[in-house]
Amino acid sequence: MKVAVLGAAGGIGQALALLLKTQLPAGSALSLYDIAPVTPGVAVDLSHIPTAVTVEGFSGEDATPALHGADVVLISAGVARKPGMDRADLFNVNAGIVRNLIEQVASTAPKALIGVITNPVNTTVAIAAEVLKKAGVYDKNRLFGVSTLDIIRANTFVAALKGKQPNEIEVPVVGGHSGVTILPLLSQVKGVSFSEQEVADLTKRIQNAGTEVVEAKAGGGSATLSMGQAAARFGLSLIRALQGEANVVECAYVEGDGEYARFFSQPLLLGKNGIVERRPLGTLSAFEQQALNGMLETLKKDISQGEEFVK
Ligand code: NAI
Repeated sequence: MKVAVLGAAGGIGQALALLLKTQLPAGSALSLYDIAPVTPGVAVDLSHIPTAVTVEGFSGEDATPALHGADVVLISAGVARKPGMDRADLFNVNAGIVRNLIEQVASTAPKALIGVITNPVNTTVAIAAEVLKKAGVYDKNRLFGVSTLDIIRANTFVAALKGKQPNEIEVPVVGGHSGVTILPLLSQVKGVSFSEQEVADLTKRIQNAGTEVVEAKAGGGSATLSMGQAAARFGLSLIRALQGEANVVECAYVEGDGEYARFFSQPLLLGKNGIVERRPLGTLSAFEQQALNGMLETLKKDISQGEEFVK
């Protein structure tokens, strides 16, 4: 298995590359690309860790040397938030970066499973889909917006509130990946129950957790280490599914049947060709149903901004 990380010299990229170097199955290849000249050095640095995973690093304008033969491509290239910024404020810079990188994925690794981390995810995934479509290689079962950070945050916060071990808790988080479009389905978490106030407070905290980090870093960026962990979890799940493991399920932001919006995060059964099955959201509480109805206008606007950008 070969995993390419684009944006590999950044805060997320380096954390993600470290976790993949130590956790990918023996015999895998890790390929790092970033526009920053330090990237081959990041690869040399990682190569001294004694695991059976090879590492290569490439820098400059051309991502294709990193992409040849990639089974999974994870993209975290772009600028991150500073205090006072919304994820949508990143659109002007990151839209062009994602378009450019996806064009290169389309020409060099058209069958790869692609995970887009670069924000605003609600919009950059729509850009990626349209670019792949233009190139004639779009497969909606192979393109994912990585929303795993919302899930691991939700698991952490719920476990802390309820005195559980974090690994006992799994919160499905659906919708999109910003503000009100992030919807944790707390009513479906097994083994715990919540008061109405707890649901309202937890939901708000999960939706604003990114801003918690941005403010705490005070101008030094947004979540990188927790995002590295989240992206590693998601990337390793893709690899396990590609290798034939059964019952690999993750929530991610993907093109579905359009019941709510063209792109929507929901539980997915993963397999050798990406998404095998889009699982239904299940029964929602009245609070969740209202939040779902309330997010759709925002989500649809975010999506059409991406579609328009490529047109
Ligand atoms: P960073 O600034 O530390 O790293 C970004 C990297 O991208 C840099 O190394 C930079 O050289 C590289 N880059 C910029 N333009 C490039 C290009 N054209 N080609 C290749 N590489 C390029 O930023 P960080 O903290 O790693 O965040 C990266 C992105 O991830 C941001 O857009 C951020 O908003 C997003 N993010 C997404 C999350 C999610 O849950 N999906 C969570 C946290 C951040």
